[in-house]
Amino acid sequence: MSKGKLIIFDTTMRDGEQSPGASMTRDEKLRIARALERMRVDVIEAGFPASSNGDFEAVRAVANVVKDCTVAGLCRANDKDIQRGIDSLKGANSWRIHTFIATSALHMEKKLRMSPEQVLEQARLSVRYAKNACPDVEFSPEDGSRSDPDFLCRVLEAVIKEGATTINIPDTVGYAVPEQFGEMIRRLRERVPNSDKAVWSVHCHNDLGMAVANSLAAVMIGGARQIECTINGLGERAGNTSLEEVVMAVRTRKDFFDLETRLDTTQIVPTSRLVSQITGFVVQPNKAVVGANAFAHASGIHQDGVLKARETYEIMTAEDVGWATNKIVLGKLSGRTAFRQRLKELGIELDNEDAYNKAFQRFKDLADKKADIFDEDLLALVAQEAGVSTEEHWRLVTMSQASGMGEKPHAKVVVAEAGREIKSEAQGDGPVDATFKAIESVAKSGAELLLYSVNAVTQGTESQGEVTVRLAKGGRIVNGVGADTDIVVASAKAYISALNKLASKVQRLNPQHQV
Ligand code: KIV
Ligand code: ZN
Repeated sequence: MSKGKLIIFDTTMRDGEQSPGASMTRDEKLRIARALERMRVDVIEAGFPASSNGDFEAVRAVANVVKDCTVAGLCRANDKDIQRGIDSLKGANSWRIHTFIATSALHMEKKLRMSPEQVLEQARLSVRYAKNACPDVEFSPEDGSRSDPDFLCRVLEAVIKEGATTINIPDTVGYAVPEQFGEMIRRLRERVPNSDKAVWSVHCHNDLGMAVANSLAAVMIGGARQIECTINGLGERAGNTSLEEVVMAVRTRKDFFDLETRLDTTQIVPTSRLVSQITGFVVQPNKAVVGANAFAHASGIHQDGVLKARETYEIMTAEDVGWATNKIVLGKLSGRTAFRQRLKELGIELDNEDAYNKAFQRFKDLADKKADIFDEDLLALVAQEAGVSTEEHWRLVTMSQASGMGEKPHAKVVVAEAGREIKSEAQGDGPVDATFKAIESVAKSGAELLLYSVNAVTQGTESQGEVTVRLAKGGRIVNGVGADTDIVVASAKAYISALNKLASKVQRLNPQHQV
């Protein structure tokens, strides 16, 4: 008999958003929420409603749009936060209040400056308050893995008594090791009275690279039936448990885990790319499941084996997780209908007709430069469309640059500020440096460049380059992404996209920095 269902709780838009520069606007959250719904995760944690008005509105928008998943919001264990959570979520088909308070001696004494008895009481009252408005209440004892088990048992007993339906044990600082963590969950479930009245869940951070292993150990040894995770493992510091790794582990090793998820795994790669492009967090090429090399066989022996029998070196197929396997999908002569149909097949839905028209125009421009258009090109192109939908204060009109051995690189740009075109030129250490200096001499943002990275979208030298630029100014950090067959143009687009985010009035605040 199957061990039952594993609930997949996605926190990309809450914990994932806490990564530096990964903050998202309301519209970006909506795009990610739609992708997560297509992928059929069970729960979407859309944000931290009390952290800012912007996040409140984003959670509310997600709650109103998503129909097929439970939408959750994180709230500290106090009535005010929980009420904000209730107000933002109550329009949803199915919603959950997720409330938390720290229970480790270190956090209670140094951070909260509260006694254990005060924490216990606050946990109890908060769950009571939430339960009055919402039948689905999750409670998390923050820093649970470093909390005293006796005290933890008392807190968990109290919140279950108040009606908590999910008990989530966080390994907040990524300190746990798999066997020990699994045992800890097993013992808690054994010791806490009425533990069977709640679903047990885990939320692991990846500081020692063990978040996925710890989560799976909690399932196998401890009997947890919900895993909290993020797309691409995005999250605070070294990130959270990676959704794609957990889901594909459970599916590929069904013989061992014997659990079901309801996920459509073919949506994993498109969703991974969407999150990467919106946040500017590039996926490392050798990342399991979603890395560009995850299904690439370089050695002759491996290639030979795969050609004879795929199973020799592959334990899952690229198609299973939504890799388009570099199929040529469209070309110069493809029309609007074929373009739209392919986007649909990739699970991409744009917000309105205007966005489709702009994306189609970009596709035509790209097809003029590049004979074969792959799915990866379409994903990059559409992601830029999403970037453009933030207020466009700056626009790159045209640019050129000259460089050569022994010559000082020189760039010329024409940039439009709120529609008015301005020319500029500059020299730099390289063509990208010269281009950024030329743009900056117009924009005068004074922003600090924190990160510049280039990745090829597909294989071969004719591939588009996808560039990420991370800028910091006045305590805000933003990521801009640009793609083009010319990587200097892609770099300029990425820089402009980051400048637009800095200039945007649309709220883009990293929730935890607010509270
Ligand atoms: O890491 C953590 O402890 C959290 C909780 C708020 C669930 O993110
Ligand atoms: Zn966390």
